[in-house]
Amino acid sequence: MNKDVEKILFSQEQICERIKELGAQITKDYAGKKLVLLGVLKGCYVFLADLARNIDLDVEIQFLTASSYGFSSVSSGKVNVNEAIDFEIKGRDIMLIEDILDTGVTLTALRAMVLKQKPASLKTCTLLDKPERREMQFTADYTGFVCPNEFVIGYGLDFGERYRNLPYVGSLKKEIYE
Ligand code: IMP
Ligand code: MG
Repeated sequence: MNKDVEKILFSQEQICERIKELGAQITKDYAGKKLVLLGVLKGCYVFLADLARNIDLDVEIQFLTASSYGFSSVSSGKVNVNEAIDFEIKGRDIMLIEDILDTGVTLTALRAMVLKQKPASLKTCTLLDKPERREMQFTADYTGFVCPNEFVIGYGLDFGERYRNLPYVGSLKKEIYE
């Protein structure tokens, strides 16, 4: 285990099992349709790679970059979307893919942005959900795990751009981020 990790919350095996279930559910729910997986970078990159390989549909992968944290463990509350959407959304089935749903600020802003372009449908899928921290009411359509109110890293999630490569999700030791 990485020395900065307090505790492993979700192991590689648990995550792998849960993503298989999510992939099977999405495959069933979208049977016969084409689906655009729209990943929110950078945190989604590991989750999206694994999820996409567990979805047995005609899938297109797109990304956008959003950030609200910078080099801090406290959300700035303001969402920066760093890339304009440069693909067709109108009339298509879109699913936003996030690493973690926390205050809800990011997904609320991104959902509004995508809806402006009139998709046929828009759903959201998040690996982790920290409901205790919600500032804006938001419920994801697909959730991997409900997460305790701790700062977590690994499996794509970072603190100051570090730890994204850990194969599990763990809580970060307080002395690292305080
Ligand atoms: P929200 O806008 O507060 O819902 O935050 C969502 C974004 O904040 C996620 O995409 C993450 O990048 C980041 N975030 C929230 N909580 C954590 C955490 O515990 N660890 C790492 N990143 C986090
Ligand atoms: Mg993120």
